[in-house]
Amino acid sequence: MSISKVASTKVTLENSVEQRLQVQHLVAANRVVVPNTGNDVIKGLTQTPKTIPACYFYDDQGSELFEQICELPEYYLTRTETAILQEYAGEIAQITGACELVELGSGSSTKTRILLDAYQELDYPLRYLPIDVSAGILESSARQLLADYPSLQVHALAGTYELALAQLVPTQLPNRMIAFIGSTLGNLQPQECDLFLSQITNALQVGEYFLLGIDLQKPKNILEPAYNDRQGVTAAFNLNMLAHLNQRFEGNFDTAQFEHWAFYNETANQIEMHLRSLRSQTVELKALNVTVNFSPGETILTEISRKFDLETIQQQLTAQGLTPLHVWTDPQQWVGLLLCQLQN
Ligand code: TRP
Repeated sequence: MSISKVASTKVTLENSVEQRLQVQHLVAANRVVVPNTGNDVIKGLTQTPKTIPACYFYDDQGSELFEQICELPEYYLTRTETAILQEYAGEIAQITGACELVELGSGSSTKTRILLDAYQELDYPLRYLPIDVSAGILESSARQLLADYPSLQVHALAGTYELALAQLVPTQLPNRMIAFIGSTLGNLQPQECDLFLSQITNALQVGEYFLLGIDLQKPKNILEPAYNDRQGVTAAFNLNMLAHLNQRFEGNFDTAQFEHWAFYNETANQIEMHLRSLRSQTVELKALNVTVNFSPGETILTEISRKFDLETIQQQLTAQGLTPLHVWTDPQQWVGLLLCQLQN
């Protein structure tokens, strides 16, 4: 190859972020993009007990606060899961071989990099499909990754997990792994969890992998501070939901008249997060044409975070055809990372 040819190849590689990036906005099969009408908010706020769907955590401010939660001293989950990944990413890459990495709820891609590094180390081709509802976050983190991994291909899917899983096409690489880490599985109600796992099973071909990160059961005195940090970041994150609704649906929630309340329900093995009304008050969401009354002390459920038992979750995965091949944890057994494979 002539020198000039080498040079031009290099320029192409460096300038090829656009060629290596594809962002696909997913729409339902009938191709009608349904705007978010806020019906889910009306439903949640008019039922007893009141709820707000967790998706309203994540506007720009909420996503920023969540990044801060992940760094809190009390929030052991991100740190511990990262350490487990760092220790076993090489082993994961060895087991799966060259494989396309699909990630659900990719957010900022710190943990993804650990996996990409492991595949790169083995000289495998790098293909990454992040899935997130926020197209903005998807694209900005994809661009950062593309800048750092010159041979990486990114095909970002903007949409819900359900839509994305239903529309995944078979990979051109020898294998595929869907990663779902950060214990987001625990934010689903048990019934939603079953449905979600069946969607994973349907999206995978036999022999493909599912990497699951989950928070494990542990004493209350460790769990509760993780959702009640001293700096008040989690409280701000929870209260930001009301500001988000105000902005989105012309609401008049006064965030000073609500407080963050999170506790561990030991019977259900879950953290429950609420917003509690500090007094009797009436809130209006003009764009939704809805008025909501709160009595003093009344709460809105905003999130659950289930804490798993390793034996039980393994049985549940196996029952769905997702056989756990490896189960890794940290020395304190606070967090679990399971590599599962779809059986016939
Ligand atoms: N998957 C995370 C968890 O359950 C999500 C989370 C962490 C979270 N902290 C939060 C959700 C605070 C709402 C509020 O731990």
